[in-house]
Amino acid sequence: MKQLKPVTTISGMMKATTFGLTVASGMILSGCESEPEGISPQQFTDALHKVMESDRAVYTKQVVNRLAKDEKVIKASEHFMDEKALPLPAQMFRFGAEMVASKTDEFSYSLQSLWPINKQNAPVTEVEKTGLKFISDNPGENYYSEEELGGQKYFTAVYPDIAVAPVCASCHNEHKDTPRSDFKVGDVMGGVVIRVPLGS
Ligand code: HEC
Repeated sequence: MKQLKPVTTISGMMKATTFGLTVASGMILSGCESEPEGISPQQFTDALHKVMESDRAVYTKQVVNRLAKDEKVIKASEHFMDEKALPLPAQMFRFGAEMVASKTDEFSYSLQSLWPINKQNAPVTEVEKTGLKFISDNPGENYYSEEELGGQKYFTAVYPDIAVAPVCASCHNEHKDTPRSDFKVGDVMGGVVIRVPLGS
C-alpha cells in the first residue's frame, strides 16, 4: 500500500504543501527545506470528510427533503429500484464508498451507528466502537486513532453524522427496524469512519 507522498513547493515568500500535485511548473523545489511538510493523515481525512458531509447534506436537503417531504412528488425508499423511488441518503453514500473502493486503496469509508437500522452498519472494531461513543458523547468533536487490522496499520477518523434535515430524524424514528425513535434535528445519528493505511 502506498503512503501519502508529500511534495513541498516553495515560490518566493509563499510556501504551499500539496499532495502530489504540481502547483506551478518550474517553481517546485522538492525537499530543499529542512523538513518537508506533507499532508498529515488527519488533514487528508478532514478534507475528504468535508466533501462527503457536504454532498450528503445537499442530497438530503435539495433532493430527498424537498421532493419527498415538502413537495411530495416522489418518495425515498430502500427498495428504490422496485418502487421507482429515490435512493436513501445512506444508500447514495454507500454507492459512493463502493465506487471509491473499486478505484483506490489509499482510503476507505463507511457510515455507521450505535443505533443502526441496518445491523451491518453497527461498529465492528474497537476504534469504531470507541469513536462512535465519543462523538455522540461529545457533540461537535471528531475522534482520531490508529489501529492495526490484519497486520496493516491504519489511521482511523470518526466524524459525527448529524440530522441536518427534518427528514433524517423522521424517517429513522418511523422505520420498523430502528432501535431508537427519538432523533431530532441536530442530533448525532451516527458517524462516518474514514480509514487510511499507514506506511510500515
Ligand atoms: C427515507 C428514509 C431515510 C432518510 C431520509 C434518512 N435515512 Fe438514514 N437510513 C435509512 C435506512 C433505511 C438506513 C439503512 C440503509 C442501509 O444501510 O441499507 C439508513 C442508514 C443510516 C445510517 C447508518 C446506520 C443505520 O441506521 O443503518 C446513518 C448514520 C443514517 N442513516 C443517518 C441519517 C441522516 C443523518 C440522515 C439525513 C442526512 C438520514 N439518515 C436520512 C433511512 C433514512
